[in-house]
Amino acid sequence: MQLNSLKTLASDAQDEAILGLFETAPNRAQSFSASTGDVLFDYSKTQITEEVRNALIALCDEAGLASRRAAMFDGEKINETEGRAVLHTALRNLDGGPVEVDGLDVMPDVLDTLQRMRVFAEEVRGGAVTGAGGAFTDVVNIGIGGSDLGPVMATHALSPYHDGPRLHYVSNVDGAHIADTLRQLDPTRTLVIVASKTFTTIETMTNARTARAWMEDGGGAPGKQFAAVSSALDKTQAFGIPQERVFGFADWVGGRYSVWGPVGLPVMIAVGSNAFDAFLRGGQAMDVHFRAADWVENMPVMLALVGIWHRQVLGHASRAVLPYDQRLLRLPAYFQQLEMESNGKSVAMDGSTLTVPSGPVVWGEPGTNGQHAFYQLIHQGTDVIPCEFMVAAEGHEPELTHHHRLLLANCLAQSEALMRGRSLGEARQRMAEKGLEGDELERQARHRVFPGNRPSTTLMYPMLTPFVLGQIIALYEHRVFVEGVLLGINSFDQWGVELGKELATSLGPIVDGEESATGKDGSTAALVAYAMRHRDQ
Ligand code: F6P
Repeated sequence: MQLNSLKTLASDAQDEAILGLFETAPNRAQSFSASTGDVLFDYSKTQITEEVRNALIALCDEAGLASRRAAMFDGEKINETEGRAVLHTALRNLDGGPVEVDGLDVMPDVLDTLQRMRVFAEEVRGGAVTGAGGAFTDVVNIGIGGSDLGPVMATHALSPYHDGPRLHYVSNVDGAHIADTLRQLDPTRTLVIVASKTFTTIETMTNARTARAWMEDGGGAPGKQFAAVSSALDKTQAFGIPQERVFGFADWVGGRYSVWGPVGLPVMIAVGSNAFDAFLRGGQAMDVHFRAADWVENMPVMLALVGIWHRQVLGHASRAVLPYDQRLLRLPAYFQQLEMESNGKSVAMDGSTLTVPSGPVVWGEPGTNGQHAFYQLIHQGTDVIPCEFMVAAEGHEPELTHHHRLLLANCLAQSEALMRGRSLGEARQRMAEKGLEGDELERQARHRVFPGNRPSTTLMYPMLTPFVLGQIIALYEHRVFVEGVLLGINSFDQWGVELGKELATSLGPIVDGEESATGKDGSTAALVAYAMRHRDQ
């Protein structure tokens, strides 16, 4: 990545007062924003100037972004370390024509599976398929990572549209998770969906077996009450799930990109197939925009360039995602996997060591709650944390518009406060107005200074509908892709999760007491000994 020209610009830009940029360019909000449909991405409250933006945009051409983008949409095997195409976009390509992998159009299969999902979801919702005790009242999705975070996030996000059975998600191998979930449910009227791309993930398979035993013991009928979502159809069969209850997807759908297909089945059962279609269409609309818009007008590209500017150029180690939307409470967790599993890499596609920082730490919480927890550090801590706000113009509760206006005012206030800050002079003035003087005035004033000039972006949308949710998720997926292309890494593998899995497997018999901890490091052996001592008491 050619960052040299940007590094020079960065040292000037860091001293640039963001507020001052609005004074010299009154139309800055319009020229430093991008929109598609009704979604608006405002990045004017950053230190990005025309010159910086031009230099950032030049990176796209240097990296061959247009041809990489075409390669992804055209089904080329851009996931080079796993030899796979990357085609989650095909899952939402409702009317976009053929998409080929190895010369074969994948769309007939995609649309056929989608239609099977629609039929099954509507049968569950309408009571045409039932459990041993009658119509399904509850659905438990068992999955982890990409087979959990997307549907969990979307189920919360679309709760105003949820008119199907109750949904529950079990992901953690900690028995507390499944125990607390199943305790409230009727084993004869619960549908269990086992979602695992590989159908080997230890957490998911352990939970699936526990759920099956619970159902058998409670008079349920696993043969009728289990469904599976997977790319490993031989394994779903071996588990005993009837073929007509298995919804498959190909290896060119990465786990963290999979909510658009069968992994989204619980969401479809919750909100219905029409609302799920609207979600897909929102994603597809963002794809169309991403493929067609010039770089400067291209929302995913500009979101990515702002990310590159803050992380790789200015060196800010984390980014906060701050949805002022309670129903997006799981969006930061979803983005953590999407961004950190995709771009948390230090080796470039060609095997060389990355010479720039990898993707940032992504974290966040909905506003206004975060304001009463960690915003102190964002405003006055020593590190700059670029903030990504998001908020709807309107909420779903017409009788509570006063709540929504307060929410909106708070969101806008935070980005304004981060930019504007409060000078020592202003803080002194406030203390003087309170009657303080001398050293005490000075001391108190210093605590009330806000450095300001802290960058943020704001994503605004009319209302959190299924279509808008689809736009937002596809926007961030493409942002991750663009950042990955500019970094020259493979955003679609996840080798960094393997070592821990292997060591957990080798520790299993040691923790069970079947093997000794000899050969393990002193710390690990001592921790095992502690657990065994306390377990045996
Ligand atoms: O451990 C990482 C991971 O492989 C994720 O990439 C994936 O989303 C998750 O595990 C679950 O995998 P699976 O769907 O195969 O159970």
